[in-house]
Amino acid sequence: MEYLILYDIRNMRDADIPQVLDIDLDAFPTQWPHPTTSSYHHELRNKLAHYVVLYKRKPDNGNENIKPSIGFKEVISYIKGLFDHDRFFGPDKSASNEQLVGMAGIWMMVDEAHIVTIAVRRSLKREGLGERLLICIIEMARQLGARIITLEVRVSNTIAQALYAKYGFLTAGTRRKYYSDNGEDALIMSTENITSSAYAELFQHLKDEHRKRWDHHYTE
Ligand SMILES: CC(C)(COP(=O)(O)OP(=O)(O)OC[C@H]1O[C@@H](n2cnc3c(N)ncnc32)[C@H](O)[C@@H]1OP(=O)(O)O)[C@@H](O)C(=O)NCCC(=O)NCCS
Repeated sequence: MEYLILYDIRNMRDADIPQVLDIDLDAFPTQWPHPTTSSYHHELRNKLAHYVVLYKRKPDNGNENIKPSIGFKEVISYIKGLFDHDRFFGPDKSASNEQLVGMAGIWMMVDEAHIVTIAVRRSLKREGLGERLLICIIEMARQLGARIITLEVRVSNTIAQALYAKYGFLTAGTRRKYYSDNGEDALIMSTENITSSAYAELFQHLKDEHRKRWDHHYTE
């Protein structure tokens, strides 16, 4: 029986931490110090922080003919879920058969969203998943009232820079010797005003293109 591969995004929970640390190690092998269980535990209780995971699942009831909705409804329902104060303490929906394949997080500071992390397992790169995560966190930032989104990225990380540039991030400066593992500089990248109609139009176009391009990946 051939199963569809479906990917969903939901908020990160404590039970996800072991897999999240594994993704961290896989995606950022040189990073030092590495995040720990307790650093993520702390982050998940930080009111400024919003983390999501991308996970792989089989269709419900093993019915491979289901055409799933992979659109951004999940993202919207996730955002609604953010306001559920029991999100960490309710029933743990992190089923053991869920394989996490990516994660991302932002910090919301007044009207600025700062991307803290975004990563996809190395074995699944170039499948549109990093972009899907970025779309999710931009959507989330918009819903949470962000006006701009900022981040730091290694000067050598031209792949991530290309992804950010696609979504309208521009280089705004440099932080010298920002990374403690090798003393590498960071580029500061920032969007312009994401509440503008010009950005809304760009974002909608990119979301539509992403959906068109990757729909088959999720549906058959
Ligand atoms: C950056 C990262 C999240 C991209 O995820 P991905 O799933 O491989 O990327 P996608 O398939 O969604 O590609 C989306 C866009 O990213 C850029 N991109 C991805 N891989 C690329 C490559 N090998 N070369 C150039 N650009 C690339 C392109 O702009 C691409 O858009 P396009 O397909 O229209 O050209 C992933 O490479 C990763 O996890 N890297 C390690 C962690 C990391 O560096 N995170 C960023 C920290 S600031």
